[in-house]
Amino acid sequence: MDNIKLDLTGSFISEEELHEIKTEIMSAQETLLDRKGVSSEMTGWLDYMYRMDADEYRDIKNAAKYIKENSEAFILLGIGGSYLGAKAAIEAIRGDFHNELFSPQVYYAGQNLSGAYLKKLIKVINEKKVCIIVISKSGTTLETALSFRIFRCLMEEKYGEESRNRIFVVTDQLKGALKNMSDLKKYKTFAVPDDIGGRYSVITPVGLLPMAAAGIDTDKFIEGLRSGAEEYTKRDFENNICCLYATARNILNRRKKDVEIFVNYEPSCTSIAEWWKQLFGESEGKEGKGIFPASLNFTTDLHSMGQFVQEGREIIFETNLAVENNEDDMEVPFDPNDFDKLNYISGKTLNYINKKAFEGTFMAHNEGNVPGIIIRVPKMDEFYLAKLFYFFMMSCGISGYTNKIDPFTQPGVEAYKKNMFRLLGRSV
Ligand code: PA5
Repeated sequence: MDNIKLDLTGSFISEEELHEIKTEIMSAQETLLDRKGVSSEMTGWLDYMYRMDADEYRDIKNAAKYIKENSEAFILLGIGGSYLGAKAAIEAIRGDFHNELFSPQVYYAGQNLSGAYLKKLIKVINEKKVCIIVISKSGTTLETALSFRIFRCLMEEKYGEESRNRIFVVTDQLKGALKNMSDLKKYKTFAVPDDIGGRYSVITPVGLLPMAAAGIDTDKFIEGLRSGAEEYTKRDFENNICCLYATARNILNRRKKDVEIFVNYEPSCTSIAEWWKQLFGESEGKEGKGIFPASLNFTTDLHSMGQFVQEGREIIFETNLAVENNEDDMEVPFDPNDFDKLNYISGKTLNYINKKAFEGTFMAHNEGNVPGIIIRVPKMDEFYLAKLFYFFMMSCGISGYTNKIDPFTQPGVEAYKKNMFRLLGRSV
């Protein structure tokens, strides 16, 4: 069977250099797998896919069925780890124009505080049959809570008592304002496990419910997670690509490559990069340490940021997502007049041309002193996407412990909240 592969041939790291920090990496991996590190109580994601509650999973599928059968659109309310994974999956699997091609349509709210955004979204969904999925582990995040208040009022106005059936909640199983309200209002509620933090929660109801409602095959997704859990927990440095990716990132960072750019050539994978940025940014950026995670969509951004990557400050390395096979493709037609001088590629497919652009760019950036890592994914389906998520989470845990930081907290996020709440006059 094809598999996700890590290609370090353009990373400027030799075999000997990889092995120089093998002991450090293996020790970090052991700390993670044996749950001996800081915040080890937040490593439930390691084996969640084997411990999932079968009744809850059945309820997720039933809720998704209800949403599909009773709505033209659903709105996913959540921020950070409470929506990025599902958005990444829905776009990557259902494709660029899923809202125009499939039903139910999917919209997002609760991820910003913009009045203009919300007002326009309400206009868009106003005439549609709608369901709401609200996701917040703490149940107190302002962005999500505020948009939920607005949508709850709209839903009650529109559907009356029936609104109760159209609202689905994913939150802490015992506490928080959202949990209390859900109990009172009798919303169907799913639990975010205690031992899994936001940016590792795409594998729980946080990801599974919106994915299933959007028509994604969650059985196949869970199969991919199990395959990842089996393969990426092996204590085998040379053959575990999570260890090797964590090693390469750390070596490059020690060489003052402070920015890692996640590059992809498929627009439908843009939000995978957004999820990845949160995973690594929030996990590693602390105590004055960390690699700044950025992302670019090529070839689009070659016409905006390509100049900087090629000739700017030499602080960058690239991690390229290469999707090896894509069934959707088309050929360049032959034009007898050849006005645009493109007949030299007529008969070739767009995916072939995109691949050549990737190879050419990779070489050029290498020549510009930009180390390049390639993650080769056989195809972008539920199985491989889930495995890719797990690959990154595992790599991030290993990388974090190698750097002697806690990859499962985000204390710095509180700073802006404190100021904002003070400025808003909140008393408690
Ligand atoms: O990774 C994290 O923990 C965060 O990004 C959270 O997911 C985000 O802040 C949203 O929190 P909550 O789900 O409590 O609303």
